[in-house]
Amino acid sequence: MSESTSEAVRGAIVADPVAWADPGQIEDVLAGLRREDPVSWVEIPGYNPFWLVTRHADVMAVERNAELFTSGERVLLQSADQDDARRNGPLKSLIDMDGAEHRTHRAVTNDWFKPGRIRSREEAVTAEARRTVDELIERGGECDFAEVIAQFPLRVVLSILGLPPEKSSWVQQMTQEVFGATDPDMRRGGDLGQSYRETMREVLTYFMGLTADRQKNPNDDLASVIANADIGEAERLSYYGLIATAGHDTTSYSITGGMAALLENPDQLALLRRDPEALTDAVEEMLRWSSPVRGFLRTAQRDTEVGGVPIKAGQSLLLSFLSANRDEAAFEEPTRFDITRARNRHVAFGFGPHACLGAHLARLEMKVFFTELLSRIDEIELAGEPAFAQAVIVSGIKRLPVRYKER
Ligand code: HEM
Repeated sequence: MSESTSEAVRGAIVADPVAWADPGQIEDVLAGLRREDPVSWVEIPGYNPFWLVTRHADVMAVERNAELFTSGERVLLQSADQDDARRNGPLKSLIDMDGAEHRTHRAVTNDWFKPGRIRSREEAVTAEARRTVDELIERGGECDFAEVIAQFPLRVVLSILGLPPEKSSWVQQMTQEVFGATDPDMRRGGDLGQSYRETMREVLTYFMGLTADRQKNPNDDLASVIANADIGEAERLSYYGLIATAGHDTTSYSITGGMAALLENPDQLALLRRDPEALTDAVEEMLRWSSPVRGFLRTAQRDTEVGGVPIKAGQSLLLSFLSANRDEAAFEEPTRFDITRARNRHVAFGFGPHACLGAHLARLEMKVFFTELLSRIDEIELAGEPAFAQAVIVSGIKRLPVRYKER
């Protein structure tokens, strides 16, 4: 086996959902690649090949140059059949757009997600966080933290979009089927393609009704903004879908991942309890640590190079946000969870024109949640082993058994 073939085999681990149930082994492979083959060619049967980009500096260089490295051809790590279905399908969302089209569509909701606008929702978000901590307390001192917490970002996303609370389990299922359908706990049954098609049929029917309603009776929710924007129908339906799905599993994985890290590092938890001001930096470290969006792809428009490696026009690159967030060249002692970390330039929200639209909202949710939790819950500790989801695009801890006392 040539050296390049063996590297291709190593990098393939990032596409294996089962491997993500043990992210430690993936992190070891990524660390090796950062050292020895930081822009590594990966070939996997049934997948279009790609370059796996593992260093922080290279991920940033690609993200910065969105004109050369575009999103339209391929953005999610999925099989070649799913790539075809996505490229040729009727739906098209922000994450698949480039250039002027992307700017125009992003501008539709950009103001909604600006810090000032998000601050005005602090009271509503705090009420949801309080309700979530109430639920923890009602569970009587022992529960699966991940299960209880999942409801919090979900309710926030439903409320900003303007969907009724009874749609929550439906939106949750849709997200898991789109971004995490490979985990056996999260599948509705039948094969992956069929489950995805069923979900999409339900989603489209519901969203078409939503447009008709908000065009007739607009209010101050995000659905009204999207329903009345001057954009195509397919783009409109995709927009609702993207906001509904991008905004909650990502945030719950960050909260649960942050909680697990605090429990595994009691000195850091004690530090946060002593100094609530440390929460702002702690949230950034939780984001770096959990990196729930594992990676997105871009495609080179011209022959070029990344990190000194020649890239041909038409080849795609998987930007490993997790690996970039563990890069020794960008972070001192990257495998240490340190809530006081200075200059934390993590890429958990990506970077450049596609950088996460909901980043300010996600940060607010995390801050108000941990403020509520720490003020009302005491002596919280692990009550079992965390279990990670088997999913390659968005993943993290799916079960976190904890024990705690009410203050
Ligand atoms: C894009 C992460 C929460 C909406 C992204 C990207 C990442 C990301 C890595 C891709 C960036 C890139 O391509 O460079 C996260 C994380 C979150 C989170 C870690 C929670 C901690 C949210 C929330 C919302 C949201 C709360 C909205 C309610 C979006 C949208 C995009 C996006 C619409 C597409 C932006 C574009 O392509 O222009 N997010 N996200 N995200 N996120 Fe988030």
